[in-house]
Formats: sequence, structure tokens, C-alpha cells
Amino acid sequence: MTEVPGEDIAPKAADRSAALSSLSDLRKLLAMVDKPRWTTPALIVLGLVSSFAETVGITLILLFLYTASGQVSAAQGDGLMGQFLREAVSWFGSTTDLALMILLLIIARGLLALLYTRISSAIGERISESVRNRIHKQYLTVSYAFVQKHEQAELMEVLGTESWVIASAYAGFTRLIINSCSILVFVGFLLGISVPITLTAVSGTLLIATVLRFFANPARSFGSQVKGAHRLLGEHMLVTLQGMRTIRAYGQEDYHHRRFTDASARARESSLAMLRLSAWIGPLTEIGYLAILCTIIAAAGWWHTSFAITLGAVVLLYRLQPHVRELESNLLYIAQVQPQLRSVWEMIEEQDKEYPAAGTLPVDALHERLAFCNVDFSYGPDQPRVLDGVTFDIPAGKTTALIGASGAGKTTIVNLLLRLYSPVSGHIEVDGVRLEDCCRTDWVRMIGVAGQDVDLVEGTVLDNIMMAREDATEEEAIAAARRAGVAEFVENLPYGFEEWVGQEGLRFSGGQRQRIGLARAILRRPAFMILDEAMSALDRDLEDRVRAAIDTHMHGRTMLIITHRLETVKTVDHIVWIDDGKVQGSGPPADLMARSPRLASIFGNRKSDALTSA
Ligand SMILES: Nc1ncnc2c1ncn2[C@@H]1O[C@H](COP(=O)(O)OP(=O)(O)OP(=O)(O)O)[C@@H](O)[C@H]1O
Ligand SMILES: [Mg+2]
Repeated sequence: MTEVPGEDIAPKAADRSAALSSLSDLRKLLAMVDKPRWTTPALIVLGLVSSFAETVGITLILLFLYTASGQVSAAQGDGLMGQFLREAVSWFGSTTDLALMILLLIIARGLLALLYTRISSAIGERISESVRNRIHKQYLTVSYAFVQKHEQAELMEVLGTESWVIASAYAGFTRLIINSCSILVFVGFLLGISVPITLTAVSGTLLIATVLRFFANPARSFGSQVKGAHRLLGEHMLVTLQGMRTIRAYGQEDYHHRRFTDASARARESSLAMLRLSAWIGPLTEIGYLAILCTIIAAAGWWHTSFAITLGAVVLLYRLQPHVRELESNLLYIAQVQPQLRSVWEMIEEQDKEYPAAGTLPVDALHERLAFCNVDFSYGPDQPRVLDGVTFDIPAGKTTALIGASGAGKTTIVNLLLRLYSPVSGHIEVDGVRLEDCCRTDWVRMIGVAGQDVDLVEGTVLDNIMMAREDATEEEAIAAARRAGVAEFVENLPYGFEEWVGQEGLRFSGGQRQRIGLARAILRRPAFMILDEAMSALDRDLEDRVRAAIDTHMHGRTMLIITHRLETVKTVDHIVWIDDGKVQGSGPPADLMARSPRLASIFGNRKSDALTSA
């Protein structure tokens, strides 16, 4: 396992562009997910109307105070605000009317805020859901090599945790819009009161924003550290859960717990560093605003501004401050989560990824043969060649054994047949048609596969068998289970076929797990059955019984058996012998032995039935 450092995505550009690039990453991501087109404009309108209601409400509160303190005439003298106050005084017959209006405005603003929150959270959750579903779909459709290349912890983190960040980032983004709207409306009202006060306030606010911009880079780098720490923690969690048996068997509990607590401490430290950074926003904005207010009050005499106007401006500025603070917090939050946004975006981006060819030609049976034609294969550009000019046939309706030493490339051939990977060069033919041209869904529907390491999943025994065919009835699944020798051990369990398989099926013996895998393959009723050492853990009697049941079930259909057991090899129609990624020979068992002294010596000399190394 490798230690995952915080990704080095620290921006090289200036601080301002750092924040902007976080926003543009978010916008790029939002553009990729489904959401109603009306949402952002609707939220802007709501934000504007609600800010307007708030500002008018505050102005009326001022009017109320002026009226109560006999300052109306002093306030009426100056600018647009004076005009507004003059008008307003004539609208309201009494202070009760005024108070009622203020109350209505506050209620209106509250309702608008409620509507806004409901829309933005509904959309945020929908975005999150859409992102989750896309990532999940991506995992299932992108090339198998891409999934294999990524660590499981990373795939889990992106799907399970980071996809949720999108909703909160979207909420932050819409709050940014609202904050900006509110700031605009407040600044408009301030301009109505006094131009010099507004200019002072705007310059002061810009200064505060410039200082806070310097937080964007550290925020992204802390965000990246948090991401790295979480991934490392995720890896340790997976190792503990998946390797539970081995860890305990080798007495490695302390070591693994120490590694976990170290990673846990690292996660705490990086989260704390991020929180400490965010904590600066509040005090800095408050201090900055207080300085602006003091400047305005001090300069009021110099500008000959009346007390009433100064008070009005100060009240408006005081209400403006939370919007500025929230705007800065949201910008910082979006910068912090940028690493997560980027990895989600990288995961759902389709342009830079490969997808297995879906193929279009329908295929529902194998009539003549499957042919490997000069197939070369390696698991990656920098990986050694595993198959080297491999050419052989698998005759239809017959049983073929694929034999060879461990690491010879047998399972790789199965992987190519399952279209998990494609040949680097050469091709595979199905009755003369290239495999990649055949409809992939049709093709895999024809195949039943069981392997040495049966991939049991969380669920019951029945769920695991029925993975092969979701339309199968319970009776069919149980019949398949009987053929594979599953029924004889499952029926004695407390919950029978409803018994929970549990973590990786460790609740069952190796042979029992293999039998569940065989039942799954039998239930498929495949035209082409692949058994990749699928009975290696069964005793001879059981293997003979299951094999006989499968032979009867598969009569006249195609089978590919990979085995190290000589007894099994002797009974097949056709052998393909592969070693070191090259075909050494193929043909009926007797012919092949006669032609190949090396193979004959293995058959002839071995007392054991294991054909382990050619
Ligand atoms: N996902 C993978 N990525 C990289 N290399 C791989 C991968 N899977 C297998 N290999 C390599 O390919 C070679 C062939 O492996 P393969 O599993 O096909 O052997 P095999 O013949 O099935 O062996 P065995 O009898 O032990 O099951 C091995 O050297 C193996 O290390
Ligand atoms: Mg293998």
C-alpha cells in the first residue's frame, strides 16, 4: 500500500485566480450534471427580491426611529434617501402602520428565504444524487483496466464521500449569488444615502476581500491534505475489514491499529488546519467592518453629514457585514473543496477514458468455433507481455481444457473472453465474426463463468446464486444449487438459502464457496461455460458428481475448463496447452500427447493428479 500524499494541485497563479479557478471547476462540474435550467436564474431573482425586502425593511426601521426621535426633517435633506423618506412619511398615517409594514416585510423576507432554502437544497440533493449515479455508472461501464488501476479506497471515497460534497458546494455557490445580490442592493441603498460613505465602505470592503483572497491558496492546499488524509484512512479501513482474518491470524492487530490511529491523527490535523483557517474569516471581516464604521463616523463631520444619515448608513453597513462575511466564507469553502470537486469531475469526465466496444451484431449461440487469432496482450503499456501471438480454437459443442503452468496466461484468456480487456493486437472470432463486433450484452449473456476465487457478495446464498439471472425463479435457483452440490450443505443451515453470506463469503469453506459459484454459472444456462479452476477445492468424489451434473446440463454445449488436474484433462475433447504466454500445442488429448513428448511425460510420469508446471 502506498501512502497517499495531499495532491499537489496548489495553484501557481495569483490568489484571486485561485478562487476563480475553484469556481470555474465547480461550474464545469455543475454543467455536467442534470438540473433544471431555471434554478440559477430563479435563485438570483429570489435573492434579489429578498435582499430588497430586507433593505426596505431596514430603511423603514430607520424611518420609525427618526419619527420616534423627531429626526425626520434632519434625514430628509440628503439625496435619494431623503426623497424616499419624504415619500415614506406621507404613505404611513401612523407609526402603527409603519410598524405593520416593517413586520410584513420581515415576514416576506423570511418566506422568501424559506423558499430559497427549499429550492436550493432540493437542487443540491438532486445534483448530489445525479453525481453519485453517474460515478456508479462510470465504474460499471468504463474500461475494466481503468477501475483496476485505481485503488479501491479511492473509488469508495469518490463515490461514497466526495460525491456528497457537490451538494454543499452547490449550496455555497448559490449562497454566493445571494450574497452578491444582497451586497449590490445594500450598496444601491447606501449610494442613495451618501456617495462618500458608499465609496468609503466599498473601498474598505474591497480591501478586506483582498486580504482574505490570500487565504484561497492555503485553503486549497489544506483541502488537498484533508483529501489525502481521508483517502489514507479509507485504505486502512479497507485493509482492516478485508484483511481481518489475516491480521488476526498473524497477530498484526497492534500494528494495524497503530497505522490507523496515525492516519486518523493526520486526518484530524488536516481538518483542524482547515477549520483554523476558516475561523479567521469572521474576526477579520468584523474588525475590518468596525474600522470602516469608525472611519465613516469620524469623517461624518468633515463631510457635513447629518447624524440621521450617518446612523442610517451605519445601520445598513452593519447589516451588510454578514453578507460580506458569508460571501468570503463561501469562496473559501469552495476553494477548500476544490480537490474533491476535481476528483469527482475527473471520475465522471468521459472524454479521457476508454470504454469497451459495445458491438452491434446479435449473437445467441456458438455454432462452429471460437478462435484466438494471433492475440498479443499485456495489462498495460508498461506491463510485460502476457500473451504472445496466441492462436488456437475452442470448438463449439465440445469440452476444451486449457492447461499450463501457473502464471501462463490462462485466466488472462478468460478475461479476454469476458471482454474485460481487449487484445493489444490480433483478435478473437466467434464463428468467424470478430468478438468486439458482437453485441457485448448478447455475448456475456451466453456465458456462465465460475472461478477458483468465487466473488461472493453481501447478501443471502440465494441472492448470490441469482446474480446470474435476475429473471430466474427461486425453484430454478434451487435446482441449480442441487446440481452444484450447494443444497446438501445449505439445507442444514438455520436459514437455508436465506443464510447471509457475509464478508467475502468467509462464513463458508473454500469448497462451499466454489459450489455457490458453480450453481450461479449453472443457473445461467449458458451456451458457453467457463470453469477456471472452479472445482479445485472440491474432493474427488464431489468433483466427479458435480462435473457429471454439469456435463449432463451442458450436453451439446461448449465448455472451457481450466484445471491443473490430470484426471479432468483426460476426459475432455480438446486441449489447448499454453506456457509462458505462448501456445505449446492443441488437439485431442491422445493426439497432443503423442505429438508432444514433454506433455506426454507429464501425463505419464506423474503419480499425483496435479498438473502444476509444464
Ligand atoms: N490485472 C493484472 N494486472 C497486471 N498483471 C496481471 C494481472 N492479472 C494477471 N497478471 C499477470 O499476467 C500473468 C498471467 O496471469 P494469469 O492469471 O493469466 O495466469 P494463470 O495462467 O491463470 O495462472 P494460475 O494458474 O496461477 O491461475 C501473470 O504474470 C500475472 O502476474
Ligand atoms: Mg488463473
